[in-house]
Parts: sequence; structure tokens; C-alpha cells
Amino acid sequence: PNKSRVTVVGSGNWGSVAAKLIASNTLKFPSFHDEVRMWVFEETLPSGEKLSEVINRTNENVKYLPGIKLGKNVVADPDLDHAVRDANMLVFVTPHQFMEGICRKIVGKIREDAEAISLIKGMEVKMEGPCMISTLITEQLGINCCVLMGANIANEIAVEKFSEATVGYRQNKEIAEKWVRLFSTPYFMVTAVQDVEGVELCGTLKNVVAIAAGCDLLMLFLPFYFLKHFQLLFLSNGEFGTDSTGFVDGLEMGNNTKAAIMRIGLREMKAFSKLLFSSVKDNTFFESCGVADLITTCLGGRNRKCADAFARNGGKRSFDELEAELLQGQKLQGVSTAKEVYEVLNHRGWLELFPLFTTVHEICIGHLPPSAIVEYSEHTPKFS
Ligand code: NAD
Ligand code: 13P
Repeated sequence: PNKSRVTVVGSGNWGSVAAKLIASNTLKFPSFHDEVRMWVFEETLPSGEKLSEVINRTNENVKYLPGIKLGKNVVADPDLDHAVRDANMLVFVTPHQFMEGICRKIVGKIREDAEAISLIKGMEVKMEGPCMISTLITEQLGINCCVLMGANIANEIAVEKFSEATVGYRQNKEIAEKWVRLFSTPYFMVTAVQDVEGVELCGTLKNVVAIAAGCDLLMLFLPFYFLKHFQLLFLSNGEFGTDSTGFVDGLEMGNNTKAAIMRIGLREMKAFSKLLFSSVKDNTFFESCGVADLITTCLGGRNRKCADAFARNGGKRSFDELEAELLQGQKLQGVSTAKEVYEVLNHRGWLELFPLFTTVHEICIGHLPPSAIVEYSEHTPKFS
């Protein structure tokens, strides 16, 4: 009688895979209704058919996840109000820039006892400061919101390759365990930690590092930049000696350089997260949502792919153009997140503490050509 009803809000690449994972479990556990409703942002395909109709006819999201059966109990629904109305478990998984509008549309139209989880990597920056997407959901809809992040390239999970993920929860462990049960499968291992902000910031910020990692030219020049800006920071932490040639030596070795970008990026992710929320726990960075997601995204994600193309074109083709060409309707999160992070850093006077985040944004907006990063650093105030 008290079965939970799940709706997935979003049906992109990860949204479709999330629906597939969930649908396999709602069939298995009697505590859930079998049917999983999936809200589809409707579009007309080149064939003239509506995407939601094709999904319901073929059981495949032919645009965002072709070739994968979602499960017969996944029902695509283009009507947002209708899709969320009866659900008491709402899974939000859209590109982050659309969430504010979606929340505005469904305010007052969801069940009072609804619980939410956000799989969205990104944040909003408002006059008052940064706002994580889970907070946006809680504030706008008045419901509790957990998060699920991790090393989760959707296409790999779609073909059931083993992955891990992290659920972040605020207080209610029972709710977190319910989400873990809903998502866990033998090939998708989910762990819960009590650190919503830490988990969500890991997922959000690693997209900025992935842009740096994908940018071959950026990788070539960044070590000089960091050398100039980080020497004092490294020395003060006792992690580096005065012999800084290790950076330069790394230039010959792509994997070492990429590892350096990941390490410095992880360090900035941790510093930024802790400056924003003192509650963020160190251990969170060792969960799937932390170092593991950073690695997989820097090696194989969409942000990395587009940044690679951007650097190869010498910054002459915009990210918007490359996103449209290379991702075919899927969305990049790293470029807008770099801008949002930059706004926070600028507003708080922290730019110089975060040279990687800052540089990524400057390059993305074309103020800094990848190849000019060395000269640029000459004119930038030094960290002290
Ligand atoms: P996607 O990148 O495939 O995005 C496309 C989706 O956006 C489509 O469903 C499209 O219909 C929808 N859309 C386009 N315009 C819209 C509008 N105006 N309003 C609402 N929706 C619109 O989506 P995704 O891969 O499911 O990503 C969603 C979130 O999940 C992102 O925050 C992403 O970082 C995160 N994520 C993605 C992956 C992955 O491998 N794809 C893995 C983990 C997390
Ligand atoms: P991209 O958006 O760069 O593909 O990253 C996907 C992801 O978040 C993997 O966990």
C-alpha cells in the first residue's frame, strides 16, 4: 500500500541510464511501484517523430542513449507536471542550467512527502553567492534533497561495466539508504556519506579540471604558470622543495603532466569546497565522487573531449560550436561551471589562490589564448 513511486526528471545521456538502473530495481523490490516515469524535454527527431513517442515505442532513447533498452517499465512523459505529480521519489538529472526553470514550473505541483536526489553536476551563482543545485531544489520546492555523484561515464554504465557512486545526505540516513537501494546493482556499487556539499562540489568542480586536462596546449604551458603562482603555496605546505624543474621535466611526458593537472585540480577542489563550506569532510575526496570521478572525467569525459578540440583549434572555435558539433545535443557543464567558479573567486578576492580554476575560465572565454599562458602569467599579480 505504501509503495514508493519514482520519477526521473531528465532524459539525456545520464538521465536515461539512471532510469534504466532504477527500473531494474523497482521491478525487483516490492517497496517500489514497477513503473518509472521519465520526463522528456520534448523534441522532434529528423524523422518527424516526437522523441518521447519513439522512446515509448522502441524502449530506447534513440537520441541520447541509442542501442540500449531502458526496461519496459520506463515510461517517457513529455508533460512535466504530469510526470512529477504522483511521485514521492524525484530524481533530478538534467544539465544544471535548466534546473532553475524546471523548479519554477513544478513549485506547488509535487507531493508534500516527496524526497529528491540530484545527479546534476553544477551550481548556480546568485547575488547572495553560490547555490548548489540540491540547495536550489530544497529552497524552491521545499523538499529534502540528497545527491548522487561518482565516476560515472554514462555510456559505460549503460553496458553494465562495473562502477561505483557516492550518495551524499544531510541528516536522514534512512532516506540515504533508500536511495542506495534504488540505485545499487551488481555492477553499480553505491555508498552513502553524510556530506551533501562535499559530494556535490566534487562532482561539480571536477568538470573544470577536466577542461584543463583535455586542453593539450594548456597542459604544455600550465606548469610554468603554476611554478610562478604556486611556489610559495607549495613551499609553505612543505610539499615541494625549491627545485622546481620537476614541472618542466614533466612537459615531455603527457601522462605525468595530466596527473599533475589532476593533482593540482584536486587540491583546488578541496580548498574551494572547504572555503565555501567548513563542514566538507576530507574523506569525501577519496570516495568515488572525488578522486575517482576526477580521473575518469579527465581521461574519458565530454568536457575533456571538447577542451581537446578547443586547444587543437588554438581557441579559434568556441566551446558552444564544438559542443554542438561533437556532442550532438548533449551538454557540457565544465565551461559554465568555470565561469560560475570564477565569479565566486572574483567576488571574494580569491582569484590568485586558484590559478587552475581561474586560468581555465580565462581560456574558455578567449581572453587568454592557450599558447599565451606563459606571458599572461608574467603580468598577473604574484601569490604571496
Ligand atoms: P545531456 O548532456 O545528455 O543533456 C541533454 C539533455 O538536456 C537532453 O535530455 C535534452 O532534452 C535536455 N535539454 C535540452 N534543452 C533543454 C531545456 N531547455 N530544458 C530542459 N532540458 C533540456 O544530459 P545528461 O548526460 O543526462 O546530464 C545531466 C547531468 O548529469 C549533468 O549535470 C551532467 O554533468 C551529469 N552527469 C552526466 C554523466 C554522463 O556521463 N553523461 C555522468 C554523470 C553525471
Ligand atoms: P562529462 O560531462 O565530462 O562527460 O563527465 C561525465 C561524468 O560526470 C562522469 O562521472
